[in-house]
This record gives sequence, C-alpha cells and structure tokens, in this order.
Amino acid sequence: MCGIVGIVSRREFPASLLLERLKRLEYRGYDSYGYYDGRDVVKAVGPIQTDGRGLTRAGISHTRWATHGGVTVENAHPHASCDGSVTVVHNGIIENFEDLKKGLVRRGHRFTSQTDSEVISHFFEEGLRTKPMRAVVTDFMGAAEGTFAVLLMLRGSDQVYALKRDSPLVLGVAPGMSIVASDIYAFSDLTRRAAFFENDEYAVVRADGFRFFDRRGRPVRRPLRTFPAQQESSVRGTFKHFMMKEILEEPAAVDRLLFSLDHDQKPAFDRLVRLVRRSKKIIFASCGTSYHASLLGAYFLHQVGVENQTLIASEFRHFAKVDGDTLIVALSQSGETMDVIDALKYARECGGRVASLVNVPYSTIQRMSDLSLNLLAGPEVCVASTKAFVSQSAFMLRLAREFGFKVDLSNLSLRIRGLLRRREDIRRIAEPVAAAPDLYVIGRGLTYPVAREIALKIKEISYIHAEGMMGGELKHGTIALIEDGTPVISIINNSDADIVSNTKEVEARGARIIPITNNPVLCRRPGTIAVRTGNDGKFGILAAVAGQLIAYYVADKLGRPIDKPRNLAKSVTVK
Ligand code: AGP
Repeated sequence: MCGIVGIVSRREFPASLLLERLKRLEYRGYDSYGYYDGRDVVKAVGPIQTDGRGLTRAGISHTRWATHGGVTVENAHPHASCDGSVTVVHNGIIENFEDLKKGLVRRGHRFTSQTDSEVISHFFEEGLRTKPMRAVVTDFMGAAEGTFAVLLMLRGSDQVYALKRDSPLVLGVAPGMSIVASDIYAFSDLTRRAAFFENDEYAVVRADGFRFFDRRGRPVRRPLRTFPAQQESSVRGTFKHFMMKEILEEPAAVDRLLFSLDHDQKPAFDRLVRLVRRSKKIIFASCGTSYHASLLGAYFLHQVGVENQTLIASEFRHFAKVDGDTLIVALSQSGETMDVIDALKYARECGGRVASLVNVPYSTIQRMSDLSLNLLAGPEVCVASTKAFVSQSAFMLRLAREFGFKVDLSNLSLRIRGLLRRREDIRRIAEPVAAAPDLYVIGRGLTYPVAREIALKIKEISYIHAEGMMGGELKHGTIALIEDGTPVISIINNSDADIVSNTKEVEARGARIIPITNNPVLCRRPGTIAVRTGNDGKFGILAAVAGQLIAYYVADKLGRPIDKPRNLAKSVTVK
C-alpha cells in the first residue's frame, strides 16, 4: 500500500502543503517519499519531512511502501520520463511492467529505478510524441495489466491527470483548491465534499475545476458527495506515539459507534440484521486484526445460535462455498485491503450478497458492497490497529445482542476508560517481557481470538516472536518450547476451568504467567492484570485492550519506532 496526493490550486502554495497532506496518509506507506512541483522532483528515504520549498500552483506526491525494488531514493516516487516531460506517482502494481518496459527500452528509453511504476512515465512520453493525451490514456488503460491510481503532470503545467483502476482514488474540493488522494483522510480536515472515481476512469484537474472521463475519453458525471465528519484528528499532538493516542480514543469511538447504530445508521443496521436472519449461510471475510475482531464476533454469534464462519480473506476462495443464499460480511479498517477486495469479487462471481463494515467512507470495499456501515473510529494513523479493533468488536457484540446475546453495552466505554486509567500498573507488569526472545498468549473460545490479536500486536510493534494459541492445542506440540521463564500471557475468563488447567500445564514447565482475568480470586494476586466485568462479551474486548497496552509498553521499553516499521534509513534528498 502506498499513498498519493496531488493538489491543484487557484493560488500559489508552498510544496510543504503537499507534504503535510501526504503526512496524513503516512500510515499507507512510510519507507520513502517524494514530490514534483512542475519543475523539480524531490525525493527522500525515511519519514516524511514537511519542509518542501518553492511555490507552485500544482504538485503531486507519494509516500511509499516498497513492493517492486528496494527502499532507495531511485525507487522512491515521483518517476520522471527520460526527457523529464512526464512525471508520475503511482499506487498499485503494473503486473506486465517487464513486457511494457522491454518495448520502451527498444525505443531508446532509459530506466533509472527497479520499480514497475517508472514504466508509466516513459509510456506517456512515448505516446505523447505522436498522439494527444486523451488517446494515450486510452492506450495506457488498454496496455496496462494490474492496478493503478496514477497522478501525472506534464513539465511546466499546472494541471494534474488522475487515472484509476482498482487502487483507491478520491478527489476532494476544498476552498480554492482540488486535492486528489488515495483516501479522504488527506483532506478530511479541510472539506467533506468529494467525488469518487470508478474503475478505468480518469480526471483532468485544473485550477478552475475538474472533469471526469471514461477510458475512451468520453465525459462522465461524477457528482460531489458529502462524506461523514471525521471526528479525531490525524495529528499526534503531545502524544509520544499515535498508537497511545488512538488507544486512548477507544472509549469515545465506541460511544460514537453505538450511538450511531441506534440513530443515524439504524436503518442500515436493521437491514443487516434482516440479511443475517434471512441468509442460509453467513461468512465473515477479513485480514489481520480485522479478522480477529470477526472471529470474536463469530464466537458471540455462535453463543446465540447464529451459524456462521469467518475466513481470512486471502484464503477465502479456497475454503468458502458461496451461492445466492450466502451473505458475506467484510470487516476492514481501511476498506482497501486487496485480499478482502479479491474475496468479495469472488463472492460476487458466485452470486453471494456483500455487506461490510469499514472505517473509511466511500472506500473500495464500501463501494462494492450491497450494504455497508461506517465504523466511525476516526483516522487510524498508527500501523498497529487498536481503536478499529475495539470498535469492530463492539459492533459484533451489538449485532449478537440483536440475536439474544446478553450484554449491557451502555457502560462498555466506561469499563475501557477504567482499564486505561490503570495503564501504569500494566506498564510495570509488561516491561519485563521486553527481555524475552519469544512469548505465548493463550486463550480458549471467547479468549482465543483475543490471544491471537495480542500476539499480533506484540509481533508487529516490538518485533518479539509471539504466538497466540488455543490453550487446548498447546499440549499437542508447542508446549515443548516453554522453558524456565518463558512469558505466557493467559487470558482467563471467570473461572473457565479449561484455560486454568492449560495455564497450570505451562506453569509446571517453568513459564512466567501473566494472567489477564476477571476472576476475583486471581485478580488479587500480584502480577495479574485485573479486568472488571462479569460479562463475557465485554471481557473479550477489555482483555484485548489490556493486550494492546502490553504490546505498547514492551515496544516502548525496547525503543521501537511503534508508529512505523524498523529499518528507516536516514533521509537523503536529491534533485
Ligand atoms: C493490524 O495491526 C495490522 N496493521 C493488520 O493486521 C490489519 O488489521 C490488516 O492488514 C487488515 O487491514 P484492514 O482492516 O484495513 O482491512
């Protein structure tokens, strides 16, 4: 995933504005970045510095997450053509770039990067020698295989061409300027009015407005729509890390979502409930943290007799049998995860109906759904998903309540707040874990998805090997790895005898147990993370919050970058 931003303005603006907007998309890619202001290409490796010089009326920029070619200045975007007449930024993958490149090299083009994206600027330079832009766009859309959101500028010009197939692209209209970007967070603090691209369309964005065209260059109408307000800001403020800022936003995010499901989103929510009742088969599809939230939800629904399954989206087509009576429910924070999009395409081919819950309004997944609800968690900038998980899980609990799950959700945010207030206690319990080379997190039933989620968070930000397991599966092999002092986080719901017995098994092998529990007797023991709720559903969510804090404090103790991945090289700017 990469992020792109282009700005066309009536008045001159400094390049730093482009970089500030790009910084809001840094969660989409953060190994290198760059911009083009109509004259110069400026690129660097490392986190975005918002100190761009020079005034311009139009510019394009890119923050990269490397896929083709290593993290180098040469591979960072923008990519200019040989004579510098065409400059592009690209999000997506041009699958047949090697074939296209061979043809262009034969015609004398010289490539300076290992990326698939560079082929685009050379393709346009070549085409524009003999044809108008409209015809070259048509040629490109015919020749390119794969996915793309491309922003293209001609040297000295103050307009931006924006092309899209399968990668996200949206055009926001703010006072005096148009901003084309990978998602609305690039401009959601400036405007709530945006036009959304469909596949194989392009727009010509100029200071006096914009026009959309289909792949043959025929004008198409793309009206401006108003998207829901984005409550939290994507600015870190005084917080050391976005991750902690976003964890502390969880109570507000949960309240906002639950309120909305009973008010403005009630008709859509009721429709989802009806669809769940009517469908013969219900399959959730998602990845990573969103998958863990759906797995937790699958547990809640099973408790009240709603048969369902949940699949990791990248394996969906291998394990799902979909027909016209199947409802597929996608959970995705970004709404842009390619594995989820592929699963939904497959589900559609098989005749299934698609519903979704996404955090980014008008994202691709939302737009390909028959019915979609908004998570309303606000921008999640930290790569480690936290508040989205909590809101997704609260949503699943609310859904299960419709089918008879007993839970009082009115105090969920209060309980989360109470746990967050005790975060210093959790820090003290968590920090010694930083010394361990690996650790295990165990749960059963309700707490199994939570165990997986905690382990994922620990791996993702502290780089300690962590396995989240079913407690019952431990004895079938993995227990051999438990040694004296191996930390094992055990999530014990009430007096669940099975997980208590699994905990004793690892304790007998010398494991250092860190219980997360609501069991009143265990809660009194030192070194225990006590969670105050007697309700199963709320315990699952609160235990996950405790795990997020453990992951955060372990990573912080180790001095990990937390909001970004490791290996961020020093910035080098070239012209
Ligand atoms: C979570 O911390 C991860 N960043 C990752 O697992 C993420 O949840 C996954 O890639 C799915 O993303 P989505 O929710 O935007 O679809």
